[in-house]
Amino acid sequence: MIARRNYIVKKMKRKISILGSTGSIGRQALEVIESLAGRFEVIALAAGNNTELLKKQAEKFKPRTVSVKSRELAMELGKDTLWGTEGLREIAANPDNDLVLMAVNGINGLEPTIAAIDNGINIALANKETLVAAGNIITKKAKEKNTCIIPVDSEHSAIFQCLENKKPRKIILTASGGPFRTKTPAEIRDATVNSTLAHPKWSMGKKITVDSATLMNKGLEVIEAHWLFGVDYRDIEVVIHPQSIVHGAVEFKDGSYIAQMGLPSMHIPIQYALTYPETTEGLKTGSLDLTEISGLYFEKPDLGRFPCLKLAYEAGEKGGTYPAALNALNEEAVYAFLKGEIRLTHIAGIVEKGLERHESIAKPSLEEILEADKTARRTIQDILPFNPLL
Ligand SMILES: NC(=O)c1ccc[n+]([C@@H]2O[C@H](COP(=O)([O-])OP(=O)(O)OC[C@H]3O[C@@H](n4cnc5c(N)ncnc54)[C@H](OP(=O)(O)O)[C@@H]3O)[C@@H](O)[C@H]2O)c1
Repeated sequence: MIARRNYIVKKMKRKISILGSTGSIGRQALEVIESLAGRFEVIALAAGNNTELLKKQAEKFKPRTVSVKSRELAMELGKDTLWGTEGLREIAANPDNDLVLMAVNGINGLEPTIAAIDNGINIALANKETLVAAGNIITKKAKEKNTCIIPVDSEHSAIFQCLENKKPRKIILTASGGPFRTKTPAEIRDATVNSTLAHPKWSMGKKITVDSATLMNKGLEVIEAHWLFGVDYRDIEVVIHPQSIVHGAVEFKDGSYIAQMGLPSMHIPIQYALTYPETTEGLKTGSLDLTEISGLYFEKPDLGRFPCLKLAYEAGEKGGTYPAALNALNEEAVYAFLKGEIRLTHIAGIVEKGLERHESIAKPSLEEILEADKTARRTIQDILPFNPLL
């Protein structure tokens, strides 16, 4: 398991850089940091396009460095502003960091994550796409550099807390089931962008919210769990738990289970990742009143209505560059859906067709993974116009 190793708490006041500070995770992380006054020094913030919010964050947290997506935006903010992937890499690699929170979305997280690891910097990892695309390389490098990867995803944070260095027989990832859990195939086919983004339990960025609706998010989390905890795919089970109170559970070889529970609030796993190995009062997000829960219920996922979960298991098990291709095809298909170009139900078809065309490389280098990512994104341009589903 790469998550828990000799996590060295260097100082009382941790120097932290936040990549994706204007996003859902980034904003909540800054709320956590504000509530833990004096515990953190924010040394860098990186955003994409939202320069207005970034400016406000910079005024409040006074980072030494900021970065944005493009050169044009960087020019607006001033001559010392970094930009692009190089800006993200430079911030992540800064040896002054005690911790980097990786909260940009999509494949954008991959190169800066590697830059942090190469410099022996611990990472609080929210960006799951990074481990999906390059789990093999990241885990190998993290071991070599003795770098810790503390999961921020609520399910992985739950498993991380349940394991405590013990080897599990099975990992159970829970899923809320998203907005279409009880809908018919016809209703899912007619899903609009608005109905897809209306998640019943979690408020998150658009891409992950669409992934939650198709259950691709859970599929990506299965691959993420495989790499974080070194567990075979056949020993990772997904169960639908619409109440979102149990975030994850593990079964040990003696048949005992440990589950982690809490209110569905990302503040809790974010704060845990930032203050690990301590648990801190920090941001109070309320208490769970067990007497008010009439029962906890769980059901099997329906792979017929939600084929993305099956596609992710298959890509994970095949390995090589299949997971990177799955991730790239899914990202492009999700953005096409958000732009109104395709239906929600086309996402799975596009990913499936793209994977059929993908020529996987068994033990890819970072360059080969990045190339597989680019090639898969180009493939979608061929699939879209000829997709029989459209
Ligand atoms: N939200 C959750 O509850 C949650 C839970 C578990 C895991 N995650 C994972 O955490 C990651 C972030 O999710 P999110 O929901 O916070 O997404 P989000 O709200 O869409 O935020 C994404 C962040 O990344 C920035 N960004 C995007 N492209 C960039 C680029 N090329 N260069 C620099 N910055 C860029 C965005 O900047 P601008 O907004 O300024 O353009 C924004 O700050 C995802 O990988 C997701 O799967 C999220």
